[in-house]
Amino acid sequence: MASHQSFAHLTSEELKSLSADQAKITLDALNAQITEHDIAYHERDEPIISDADYDKLVRLSLALEEAFPSLKSDNSRRLKIGSAPSDVFAKISHARPMLSLSNIFEPEEIGQFIQRIYRFLNLPETTEIGFVAEPKIDGLSISLRYEDGKLVTAATRGDGTTGEDVTENIKTISDIPHILPKSAPEICEVRGEIYMNKSDFLALNNAQEAAGKKVFANPRNAAAGSLRQKDVSITRQRSLHFFAYAAGALSQPLSDTHSGFLSQLSTLGFSVNPMTTQCISSQELYAAYQAIGASRGNLEYDIDGVVYKIDRLDWQMRLGQISRSPRWAIAHKFPAEQAETRLVDIDIQIGRTGALTPVARLQPLTVGGVVVSNATLHNEDEIRRKDIRIGDMVILQRAGDVIPQIVASLPEKRTGNETIFHFPDVCPVCGYPAIRPEGEAVRRCTGGFDCHAQSVERLIHFVSRDAFDIEGLGTKQIELFDELGWLKHPSDIFLLTSKKEEIAALDRMGEKSANNLIDAINSRRRIGLERVIFALGIRQIGIATAKLLAHSFQSLHSLQEACINAQDINHPAYQDLINIAQIGESVAKDLIDFFCQTHNQNLVKYLLEEIIPIPPEQPQSNSVISGSIIVFTGTLTQLSRAEAKAQAERMGAKVAGSVSKKTDYVVVGTDAGSKAQKATDLGIKILSENEWISLVS
Ligand code: IVH
Repeated sequence: MASHQSFAHLTSEELKSLSADQAKITLDALNAQITEHDIAYHERDEPIISDADYDKLVRLSLALEEAFPSLKSDNSRRLKIGSAPSDVFAKISHARPMLSLSNIFEPEEIGQFIQRIYRFLNLPETTEIGFVAEPKIDGLSISLRYEDGKLVTAATRGDGTTGEDVTENIKTISDIPHILPKSAPEICEVRGEIYMNKSDFLALNNAQEAAGKKVFANPRNAAAGSLRQKDVSITRQRSLHFFAYAAGALSQPLSDTHSGFLSQLSTLGFSVNPMTTQCISSQELYAAYQAIGASRGNLEYDIDGVVYKIDRLDWQMRLGQISRSPRWAIAHKFPAEQAETRLVDIDIQIGRTGALTPVARLQPLTVGGVVVSNATLHNEDEIRRKDIRIGDMVILQRAGDVIPQIVASLPEKRTGNETIFHFPDVCPVCGYPAIRPEGEAVRRCTGGFDCHAQSVERLIHFVSRDAFDIEGLGTKQIELFDELGWLKHPSDIFLLTSKKEEIAALDRMGEKSANNLIDAINSRRRIGLERVIFALGIRQIGIATAKLLAHSFQSLHSLQEACINAQDINHPAYQDLINIAQIGESVAKDLIDFFCQTHNQNLVKYLLEEIIPIPPEQPQSNSVISGSIIVFTGTLTQLSRAEAKAQAERMGAKVAGSVSKKTDYVVVGTDAGSKAQKATDLGIKILSENEWISLVS
């Protein structure tokens, strides 16, 4: 949505050229986005982006920290695995951390894994090392703690150190014993994987779809979503299973080997995966990998590889761990599952942000035990690059990831009846032009609130916390009012105030709620200009940028007028716009695009008939620096950069991020770099920090 700046295009050179302030703002925004994706994935079990795109964001965040080491904090992505536990569940610290596994993909890497163990333990070549190969279950890991034979807590992995307390939910799973036999150690922590069978996953999704509820992307997300329910009765209705495969804290060992431990677990009443095999060489491990891999499609549940573990527990102890993974175990991942089918048609879906996404309609087939009839085609270039035509036979791949992908078309199987797909340049939902900005991969509908594919999501954004923040008007109500045909444009929200009787008559509403809602709406008729700008949902305009714009323009009209003028990049309005700190050409373009569209101008006009935006504190028009453009560079010692900037703006100056001919003053702190030089070259007045302070005080 609007607060989602796109960072993917930033190169490492560009990262380095950011100022420290810009770097901090970028890093904060980036980390906020990553956190949002973490929540979508780990808490809502509903990923928004592919694993690969997520990794890109994380790498960028790490690269920024590398370029600006002073920004490293406890909040760093470096320190995270999984996600921090949510607030919905109580937290549980793991008595022993829950580790992850490093991955290998090639058979040669098995030998390298074994060689590392020989070297680390300093074993002679003649010593035999025993291993266990187990399927890697694609579910979510859980730690079960039994005290005196009773199940006391169950926790998710969380970030590896602290997980979520899901004890009540876990107790609904029939594979998990509540009481252990007398032979169990006093303290006995058993770890393993919760999973959902593929058939149960499909049945669940059918039921969810029929009930208009969200469907899950894969059995793993479905298992996680089903377990992490506040209402335990929902978990009880879902069919979840458990395989045990590791120990947490044990008051006394159950065995001196892993294989012995697993058979003890069976005796204690746990399910242990029946394909678990003992091996003594890389050849045997690889044979186990192939045998398990061959049965993959026939298994009731998803597996994504084979885990190799050293059998002797004393050796496991000696080997220990490196960062967050044990040296004594490794996951050999399977390649993504592939299959061939026919591409029957290509449909265009409009995302809630207006992006046009091509979706392949396929002749249904089973890949890895899951029936697939749709696949994403990403974007128009992808279709062209892979030369995918309607009617083609295609190779489909399911990587356990969100949606299956089309890897390639098979031109040698063409019959001559295939047709080339022409990507639409109008939105199939609203008929507005769908435009693909230069250098971008995605075509977007320009209909905004006029496009029904987007209007609900845009309205939800419009009333969100940093925007209009209208109490009692959330997603549910907006969806309902949309269905009733009461809401389309933002101004319609304010027209709701004349619908008191109708609102009161709605299910679960009543007069009191209707009155409250109307009061809440009316109380927002006078509202901060920055909230209004943010609420419009202009691409790349988050609340921070909206504040800058509100400061600089003081009214929606002048912002709109400036953007209309700035269509001509030679107009001074364009320079003014990009002179605002953090507004580069790309942000300026999104602003101009928005305000130049007639339907958005109408939106603003009707909105302003309902509300009065309050500009931020009026800057002085008669101060010594009113109207001048100021650039700060280097480190200020007596006041913070933010304070200096606020002071300048209060006194009617504009603060710019870079020095140009239009700059009036450059305030130079310590360690100032190229900007100070440029100011000298351009003959711009340079002020020291003290000179600045005496100028403004
Ligand atoms: S052993 C210390 N065994 O894979 C190692 N993990 O990528 C602890 N997993 O977090 C894990 N099947 O959720 C182990 N047979 C198996 C597994 C398994 C699935 C998962 C587990 C772990 C993740 C690591």
